[in-house]
Parts: sequence; C-alpha cells; structure tokens
Amino acid sequence: MNKFELIKKEIWSIIPKSPIESDLMHSKLVLKRVLKLHPSASEELQIAAVGHDIDRAISKITEKNLDYYSKIKEFKKEHAIRSAKYICEILKKYEYPKEKINKIKYLVENHECGGNHEANILMSADSLAYFEYNIPLYSKNYGEQAAIEKCKFMYERLSEDAKKLVKKIEYEDKTIANIVKMAIE
Ligand SMILES: [Fe+2]
Repeated sequence: MNKFELIKKEIWSIIPKSPIESDLMHSKLVLKRVLKLHPSASEELQIAAVGHDIDRAISKITEKNLDYYSKIKEFKKEHAIRSAKYICEILKKYEYPKEKINKIKYLVENHECGGNHEANILMSADSLAYFEYNIPLYSKNYGEQAAIEKCKFMYERLSEDAKKLVKKIEYEDKTIANIVKMAIE
C-alpha cells in the first residue's frame, strides 16, 4: 500500500469515532464528488476531501455545541482549523512532503468558505454530498428548522453548476423534499 492509501485508511479508521454516525459515508461521498467535479484532482485535494471533517471524530464537537445559529460561520471556521491541525499531525507522521502538507492545510482550513480553485471544488463537493446524503440525519438530530437553515448555508456557497445538480436531486421522503424546497426557492 502506498503512502496515499495508508493515509486514507488511517483517516477512515478515525472518522467512525465521530458522534455523527454519517461522517464516514460523508467523507467517502465528498471524495467521490471531488473526483466527479475534477477528475484529475491532486492527491492533496483528495486527502483534504477525505479528512476535512476529522475534527468531529477527535474533538467530538458538533453543531449541538452551537448556541446561536447566527454564529455558524465562526463555528465552522474553528471546526475547519481544528480539522486541518489534526490532518497535518497525521501527514507529518507519514513524513508526507512539507509543501503538500501546507497545501492540504490550506484546503481543509478553507473547505467551509472556499478560496482558490481547489478549495472551491472541495466546498462544492462537501455541499453536494450534504444534499445527497446528510439531510435526514441532520433533521433528526437538530430539527427541521435547523435543517432548512443548514441547507440555505450549504446552497448559498455552491457554484452555479453545483446548484443545478442540487435542483435535479429527487427526494423520496416528502419532509426532506420540503426542507430543501424551503431552503433553495
Ligand atoms: Fe463535510
């Protein structure tokens, strides 16, 4: 197994410790969506996709710890910085090249807000994966109103192309379909 595969394997062995039970599937789906949006994605972008939410598996901090939804952006920034720190520790252990570690650090730190072209791809992939998979559990954990707010946040940061992809998703569950409708129309 090469270093890249070993690193992915280690990250995927840690993520199931997250209090959010869908996090492992989310990580795998974000990697898939990154490769769909950018088939020649660099190894660094792929590692950032796999590990961008590792924070939750280590700090155990989730949006249940968020007192006011208006603080979501600051809360997400802190989450991204913690994830980047944990990912860097893993990469250093594998003696991954310093320049590449810095690139991954930047991508993970900016996965919630975007930045350069690759950070924007990661942010869109993260949002797409959320719309495809995470809404039912999010709604169950935090309630329908919070799920609508979360969908609004996720939708606003999508590229126009990714927004079109979200509009094409067909939800079998009427409650989930309604949450998305309320958020994006
Ligand atoms: Fe994510």
